Amino acid sequence: MRIIQTSSYDELSHTAAILILNQLLEKPDFVLGLATGHTPSGLYRELVATYRSLGIDLSGVHCFHLDEYLGLSPDNPESMASYLRTNLLEPLGIDLAARHFVPADSKMPEAACKQYEAEINGFGGIDLQILGIGANGHIAFNEPGTAFELGTHIAQLSDSTRQANARYFANGETPAAAMTMGPRSILQARQILLLAAGAGKAEAVRQMLQDPVSEDCPASVLRYHPDVTLIVDREAASAIQWPLARFKALPLEVWTDEQTLPAQIQTAMVAAPHPDDASIGCGGTLARLRRQGCQIHFVSMSSGHRADIPDSTKESRIELRINEGRQEAEVFAGDFTPLNLPFYDHAYMPGRQDVLKTVALLEKIQPQIVLSTSPQDRHPCHRASALIIQEALREYQPQGQRAELWCYEGPWYLFERDDFNTVIEFNAHDLDHKMRGVQAHDSQISRKRYDLSAEALARFRAITVPESRLSSFGTALTDVGEHIEVFQRLVVD
Ligand code: F6R
Repeated sequence: MRIIQTSSYDELSHTAAILILNQLLEKPDFVLGLATGHTPSGLYRELVATYRSLGIDLSGVHCFHLDEYLGLSPDNPESMASYLRTNLLEPLGIDLAARHFVPADSKMPEAACKQYEAEINGFGGIDLQILGIGANGHIAFNEPGTAFELGTHIAQLSDSTRQANARYFANGETPAAAMTMGPRSILQARQILLLAAGAGKAEAVRQMLQDPVSEDCPASVLRYHPDVTLIVDREAASAIQWPLARFKALPLEVWTDEQTLPAQIQTAMVAAPHPDDASIGCGGTLARLRRQGCQIHFVSMSSGHRADIPDSTKESRIELRINEGRQEAEVFAGDFTPLNLPFYDHAYMPGRQDVLKTVALLEKIQPQIVLSTSPQDRHPCHRASALIIQEALREYQPQGQRAELWCYEGPWYLFERDDFNTVIEFNAHDLDHKMRGVQAHDSQISRKRYDLSAEALARFRAITVPESRLSSFGTALTDVGEHIEVFQRLVVD
């Protein structure tokens, strides 16, 4: 999460407006997600003022609204939609057809929630979602306790939220329920801009940034999004205990076959999102570690029970995949733990249980390094697994040094040129181990030849990475043999 601290509310509004205007200029068909409430009102005033003075073309922009009180139509003057229309959409000249409001007055609200999500997807998803945060940590109308896996849904409002918003109603009574985008749908936006102003938000901001990610603080789910900017004024930032624990990249390392890997690595844990991902992603490196006497613990984060395996039931698939995981571990004389975490059946949304179980395993294994997919991975299961590992590594505090995190690439996510800082060569013998590790998952490679793709990737990397001048990898790499794996090595700072 990028954090921009401003000295005043006006500066916060101005900074947010600059960020958004830049993007609107870059992408004429931008899809903007709008929040209401007090916090973004200064931003909206800035946007209108800039639009009036510069006259930017917003004719291609579409706006989607985040939440609305249940039963209120967009024409109701007390609706959030009405506020947006008067204060933003009309002044910006946003076309009627480009104003998308939460259908909170629908006679069939459950179906309307699904339709609203489909409408957003029909426009290619939200490019940037503006959010405020409630004093109790809510985002949109997702109150504490809301399941992270929820999409657009009907929510009951807490007493504190109803009290805070009573000022917007002539009779001083906030409706009891709302239709709101859920944590899962909010996380689908490509970027999130979260605004927090005033001392009343200080504790929620601290909790969101520093307490474990948990449904008790809905805003903490934003830590699972790769592109969030928090703009916070001095008061709202006042409870943050700096510095925040972050993953920092370790210095560049190139380990050719002649060099030994660091001797202190005696125990490694390799986290596979599905049971078969470990050897595909980093089997050559696992073989090298094993050669040096390192003990390797294979962990499958999900059961992978949705795999396409003919003539099977869910139970038989789980069993089969556990057996295959065990066989893979045997290739490296390691052991296998099927964690089978609940996120896999919760729309790939990591929850507290996932993290706690992973922390417990880290405490048991006590690895010096953890190999995992990257949180940037496009595959939702791989991404969720990486987020759980990261969160668990933040919480796991070993007696000695903190474990390093080695993110590997794989079929669903290849690093960009500058994303990796570690290159590991492996020899023909290691390649044989890697292949046998991948091939242990017969149910998978009989369908798709992941063994071939993993070998091809290791060769491709060995050919392209040393071409540092062409790839701007940033170092004069000499020849690294025929097969390499690349990693992003990180550690909690
Ligand atoms: C509004 C919304 C709410 C607010 C939050 C903060 O669309 O979804 O989550 O962002 O309640 O409200 P203010 O900014 O009024 O303090």
